[in-house]
Amino acid sequence: MPTYQLRGEVPRKRHIQFRENGTLLTEEVVGLEGFTGNESILYHLQSPCRIRELGAFKAIERDEWIPSAHAHRHFRTADIPAAGDAVTGRQLLMWNADVEISLCRPDGAREGFYRNGEGDEVIFVHEGSGVLETIYGDLPYAEGDYVVVPRGTTYRFAPQGPQRYVVFESPGLIEIPRRYRNAYGQLLEHAPFYHRDIHPPTDLRTHRERGDFEVTVRVRDGYQTYVLDYHPFDVVGWDGYVYPWTFNINDFEPITGRIHMPPPAHQTFAGRNFVICSFCPRKLDFDPLAVPIPYHHSNLNSEEMIYYVSGNFGSRRGIEVSSVTLHPSGIPHGPHPGLAEKSIGLTETHELAVMCDTFHPLRLTKLAKGMDDPAYAYSWYEEDGAAAPSPEEDPAGVTSHF
Ligand SMILES: [Fe+2]
Repeated sequence: MPTYQLRGEVPRKRHIQFRENGTLLTEEVVGLEGFTGNESILYHLQSPCRIRELGAFKAIERDEWIPSAHAHRHFRTADIPAAGDAVTGRQLLMWNADVEISLCRPDGAREGFYRNGEGDEVIFVHEGSGVLETIYGDLPYAEGDYVVVPRGTTYRFAPQGPQRYVVFESPGLIEIPRRYRNAYGQLLEHAPFYHRDIHPPTDLRTHRERGDFEVTVRVRDGYQTYVLDYHPFDVVGWDGYVYPWTFNINDFEPITGRIHMPPPAHQTFAGRNFVICSFCPRKLDFDPLAVPIPYHHSNLNSEEMIYYVSGNFGSRRGIEVSSVTLHPSGIPHGPHPGLAEKSIGLTETHELAVMCDTFHPLRLTKLAKGMDDPAYAYSWYEEDGAAAPSPEEDPAGVTSHF
């Protein structure tokens, strides 16, 4: 999506004969929006339609938790058990018609291959590194990466070391915000990242291997398994704009100001009715009268989910690394009592967090119920004279957003 890329061998023109050892290769156009969106053209050794066996279809079941009260929520996710692989290990936390947000701590690699046939994916790598092996080539990833996987990409994770992800999946497109790009797609000077920060697949490895290869494809709100008789990564070359890529959160260049910058300044991705933002270490507001932490706000039609990646959140009551907060629509939220006053004079913050704002309500799963901190809804309440939380031990630990 970010720029034109080419890997391996492709013919001089599209849609002309392209042979290997006299055999005509199979050209596949992988495109969006009925041949009017971005596309890539792949050249296969075998037809990608060659299914030897149709496997089972398994519908997705979501175990919903409907809380008895509408309130701000805090979920402690650090101890979520490791399970499954990078796909089967996704544990749905919240969702709506536009986005599903899952946590994942895989405890092993996957034998077979996976393809999301009905959604784009952004996988935030909180812990771990490895290689996402894809039909477009190898995509190395590391801690702090957003791994962006467009729909239709066949892949398999090759993880190295313990892994922990937050996974966003959407039936809509997940894109770089339009306002960051010019009419030709180039990232503008005011954008908080540039093309050099975006990493497409490195090496294309063409697999010439017969056998049984299982590919699980997410379609129609379920998982369909197919068995192919040839390795799915049989591409000798491809070019175009559709491919997976990574962007590291630490390459996000924070935008700061004399007075408070609103969350859109931190936007990293645009989805259908949602955004993903990166809150990174940065200098805080520098006006002599600035209040460095945010004003209370009622985002009346937004739901605000934040995943706390690193930093000292001690001044935010009960929040720890891997915590998730959800500030739902319809009610106000803001800094805890006393913090606005105590933040005055702070010059920087060291926190790192990922936020997803949705424009329609999110539903919760029973997983969320099991990790719910019921005290959080009351954490703004104080008996008269009670002590405010103190950021003094680590002033830079004051949570500077939400
Ligand atoms: Fe907020």
